[in-house]
Amino acid sequence: MKLVLASKNPKKLAEMNRILSQLGIEVCSEAEVGVDVEVEETGTTFEENSFLKAKAVMEASGLPAIADDSGLCVDALNGAPGVYSARYGGEGLDDEGRYRLLLENMRGQSPRTAHFVSVITCAFPDGTVLTARGECNGTIAFAPMGEGGFGYDPVFFLPERKKTFAQLSPEEKNTISHRGKALEQFEQILQNYLSQQG
Ligand code: IMP
Repeated sequence: MKLVLASKNPKKLAEMNRILSQLGIEVCSEAEVGVDVEVEETGTTFEENSFLKAKAVMEASGLPAIADDSGLCVDALNGAPGVYSARYGGEGLDDEGRYRLLLENMRGQSPRTAHFVSVITCAFPDGTVLTARGECNGTIAFAPMGEGGFGYDPVFFLPERKKTFAQLSPEEKNTISHRGKALEQFEQILQNYLSQQG
C-alpha cells in the first residue's frame, strides 16, 4: 500500500518510511505523485489541522494520505504556543527567535511544565479516517541547552533525564518523543485497519 505524505519535509518522509515500511507500506512525497498542495492550517486543534492536511492531499492525489501536526503547549501560558508553535511571534522569527520569545514570556512564570503533542491522521478515499496522538511531558528550561534537534528542542527539558530534547541523540528522542509515540500508536491502528480489510 502507498500513502502520500502531506508535507514538504524530507526528514518527516524518511522517519515515516523507516517505521511504516515494516508494515509493507510505502510512504511517498507529494512530488512523487505529482501534487503540490498548500493547506491553510485554520484549525484550533492539532486533530483539525492534521485532518485538513491529510484530506487535502488525499483529494488532490486520489490516494490515501497521511499528515502530522505538532506543537508545544505550555501550562503557564494557557497552552500557548500550541497549534501556533511554528508561527509563534509572527513571520519574522526563526526557530531560535521563537524559543527566545518563549523564554522571555516565561520569565517569572510558574509552573514551568509543558508538553509536546503530535497528531497523525490518515485519510482514505472511501472516507475512512485513522488518527493517533502522542504526548511528551517536560518543563521549559531557564536557558537553551544542546545543539541537536530543531524547533523548541533546546528549551524543552526532561527532568528525569536532566537533559533537553536538543541534548538527546535522534534515536533517544524518537523513543520518548510525542512523534515517536504517535507513530507507534498509528502503526497499531493501521495494522488493525489493514487486517480488517483482509
Ligand atoms: P507542524 O509542522 O505544523 O506540525 O509544526 C510544528 C511546530 O511545532 C514546529 O515548527 C516546531 O516549532 C514545533 N515542534 C513540533 N515538534 C517538535 C519537536 O520535536 N521539537 C521541537 N519543536 C517541535
